[in-house]
Amino acid sequence: MKIGVLTGGGDCAGLNATIRGLVARSEEYGFEVLGIERGWKGLIEPAGKKITYEMVDELVGVGGTFILTSRTNPFKMDGGPEKVVKSIKKLGLDALVAIGGNDTLGVAHKLSQMGIKVVGVPKTMDNDLSSTDFTFGFDSAVNVAVECIDRVKTTGMSHERVIVVEVMGRDAGWVAAYAGIASGAHVVLLPEKPFDIAKVCRTITKRWDAGKKFSLVVVAEGAKAKGTKVTKGAAVDAFGNPILGGIGQFIAKEVEKRTGLETREVVLGHIIRGGAPSAYDRVLATRFGVAAADMVKNGNFGMMVALKGNKVVPVKIGGALAQKLVDTNLYSIANSFSGVS
Ligand code: F6P
Repeated sequence: MKIGVLTGGGDCAGLNATIRGLVARSEEYGFEVLGIERGWKGLIEPAGKKITYEMVDELVGVGGTFILTSRTNPFKMDGGPEKVVKSIKKLGLDALVAIGGNDTLGVAHKLSQMGIKVVGVPKTMDNDLSSTDFTFGFDSAVNVAVECIDRVKTTGMSHERVIVVEVMGRDAGWVAAYAGIASGAHVVLLPEKPFDIAKVCRTITKRWDAGKKFSLVVVAEGAKAKGTKVTKGAAVDAFGNPILGGIGQFIAKEVEKRTGLETREVVLGHIIRGGAPSAYDRVLATRFGVAAADMVKNGNFGMMVALKGNKVVPVKIGGALAQKLVDTNLYSIANSFSGVS
């Protein structure tokens, strides 16, 4: 049995640990693993290398993906899907393990409907895939975000300023909600609930009036101000996703203008996506990689590994593609610590 493995979309912490888990269990089964380079691009222009356990032995704690990634959508290319099928034959692959988020797994789902034997592994710092409680990459991103926010907090407090921190997460506010709660933010703004800038300013002013001369606002890059559209431009990626960013700057400017308080914004961006995985993500990613090899062995194709409670189970890839959003309960917890009533 020859398994191809690829990582697609934005990288996140834990990808190498997953490949290591996959290769370790595959070798136990006597399977060969071929690393497909640069996500789906590596099946448009076939590019792969044999991966042995020896090669991945020391990668459990290493960030990024050593087989590289790209945002390539074969279904947006002339003859793309046919090229992928041809490459799979040419490389002699019996099965494919696709490690990715909604976009990469969306392609995996379509290929599986075309008869390709695919197993999906969910990864994304955004944690926005349905059918799995968590994706690896998320815990690492939240931990780094909290470390950074703790740092900007002490400078903000020393200067009696308002600090606005923008974090990634696309159209789901998981990172902002978790990082906001864990860093004691006073206002947390998520894409799931359009916000009123006047209300944000009122919360901050109230804190100043109560003698609390520091405020921390954590905002998700996809958060929207009611009645105002903030984007970085019209550009979209190969999957039609807009390039987000700029909401933190918008809020900081408005807060300073409306409250007269000195305000600074910090965009954490890719800093929280890159780097070493947390211990939690190393374990989750390893479990996912091992489970993917088991699923290939058991013929669970068209399925994705998923975390349900504390169990790793197979679920249908097609059912996991819908975006998982932050629920109202978590949103209200995140916004219940302004420190003034
Ligand atoms: O999908 C993960 C993600 O990190 C999003 O949170 C973010 O909007 C996007 O990728 C950024 O992508 P790029 O690496 O292409 O700038």
